[in-house]
This record gives sequence, structure tokens and C-alpha cells, in this order.
Amino acid sequence: MSNKIYITRAIPEIGITMLRSKGYEVDVWTKDQAPSKRQLMRALKKKPYDGVICLLTDQIDADVFAAAPKARIFANYADGYNNIDLAEAAKRGIAISNTPGVSSDAVAEHAVALMLALSTRLVEADSYVREGRYKGWAPLHFIGPGMDGKTIGLVGVGHIGSRVAAALKKGFGARVIYYDVAPNAQIEAEYGAEKKADLESLLREADIVSLHVPLLDSTRHLINAERLALMKPTALIINTSRGPVIDEQALVKALESGQIAGAGLDVFEFEPKLARGLAKLKNTVLTPHIASARQSIRDEMARMAADNVISCLETGSPKNPVR
Ligand code: GLV
Repeated sequence: MSNKIYITRAIPEIGITMLRSKGYEVDVWTKDQAPSKRQLMRALKKKPYDGVICLLTDQIDADVFAAAPKARIFANYADGYNNIDLAEAAKRGIAISNTPGVSSDAVAEHAVALMLALSTRLVEADSYVREGRYKGWAPLHFIGPGMDGKTIGLVGVGHIGSRVAAALKKGFGARVIYYDVAPNAQIEAEYGAEKKADLESLLREADIVSLHVPLLDSTRHLINAERLALMKPTALIINTSRGPVIDEQALVKALESGQIAGAGLDVFEFEPKLARGLAKLKNTVLTPHIASARQSIRDEMARMAADNVISCLETGSPKNPVR
């Protein structure tokens, strides 16, 4: 009997072809909207699936695992895996894998794009022109903070944070400070980055704060009202990691009151919903979780997810297990 695989959303064809060319039977949730938990469970109960490729939009918990009792692997089509209950998977002996590293450079690029958009007031100015409000050049139109002489504060300096450090140091001569549980000798040596003893010191000093941490219990609401209050009134905050790292309602208040100057967000606390008031704020640039949206990256993620499924079903363990 051929292995049966369920994929919770249409992913690039390369992944599906890999599975089908192994003789696996592959079913895909083809609607544009992600399935609700109930829809996903109903779909999984239709056949005795041996493996599942799931997305960061799927909350994979005990109920979902129970709906696919034969599945040996849930292969996440994402680098992050905060959407999966790992303890429950371990209890049931289900392997979990992800697609590490492949999107890191693009995410760093997107973080820098958000910084540039905010500091040049690019999006505001674009709307101004499109709406026919541009009546001629004026010396004080759209004055922005720019990037010159800025101190960038990186929270988390794994691959993505390090790439942002490189881009800002080499491209704009920024001073780089960072906070992480472990020191990063490479960015200290190459970009003169300075490790701060605590997050609070970084928040007080940075002109641009950029978040590059995974979502864990310890990083949920890492940026809350008290910490936002430590930031400079001219400071910008950028989030390309996971929405719940920021208390979004507290952020809206800080932006409304001028406690901080702006925010560039690719992720949201209750994605795809936005905190009340956020969409009205002109001092924000908001993108719909697209930091890794490149065809080559999405193809590679599909290839890796399929490879993890095949490797798990053939050898007992995926190539990129999440531990
Ligand atoms: C995207 O956010 C990912 O984790 O791959």
C-alpha cells in the first residue's frame, strides 16, 4: 500500500512531484484560505495519512495529531515551528521537521527594507503622490529621519540578525549593538557590534530596534508597555520574527502617543488580524508576512518539506528534525 500524505495548502509543485514520484498518494487543501482547525481535522480523518506537510498557519495540537493517528511525521513548511505542540508530538512519537536557514537572507533583506521605508517615509509619500495631493516640491515635505549615524539594536543575532548587522554596517556605517543569550564573536569582530548586558540597555540606546528571536514562552511579549517606554521617542521598531514577540496593543498605544516614532511589521500578534488602531497609523509600514516570499525560497522549502517526509518514512527520521 502506498504512503498517503496530506498537505494543508498548495505548495510549489516540486514538493508534490517529489512525493508522487515515490508512488505516494498526495492530497492537498486547495482553497485560498487556510483550513480552520475543524476543517483540517475533518480532512485528515478522511484517509489513514502516513505524513502531513503543514504550514505556520496551522495550529498543530493534540486534537490534530489524534485526527491523523497513523501519521509518523508533521513536516512544517516554515523555518519557525511555534505553531506545533512539540511536547505532544514527542509523547506520541511523531517526528516534526522544519525548513531551516533557507529564508534567512530574505528575511534580513525585508527587515532592512522596512527600516528604509520608515526612515524615508516611502509608503506615506507614495500614497501622497497616487492620491493626487502632490502639487509641487517643497523644502519641508516628508522630512524623514534617514539612516545616517544611526545605532541599530538587534535583538537576537543568529543568521538573520547577523545579516542585518552586515547590511547596516557595510551599507550605512551604522553602529551595531545587540542583545542575545549568547555572544556573537563574528559580528563583534567584523562589524564592531557591541553586546549589551540586558535588553533594557539596548532599548534605551537604539535608534532602530530589530527583532530576530524565535517565539518561545520566554520571548512572548518580550516587547511590552514597560519596555516600549524605555525606547527613544525618535526610535523605530521592526518585527520580522513572530507577531506575539510584541504586545501589539501596547505598541499601538506607544505609536499613537508618540512614545516611539514608528514601526515596520511583517508579522502580527493575531495574524491576519491587526490590533485595534494599528492600520490607521501613518507611522507604520505593514506587510503581510512576506519576508520569505521569493520563488526560489518557496520552491526550496517545498523540496525540503517533501524530503523530510520521504526521509522519515524511509529511514525513520527526517533530515531537518526539530528537537
Ligand atoms: C516564516 O515565517 C518561516 O518561519 O518560515
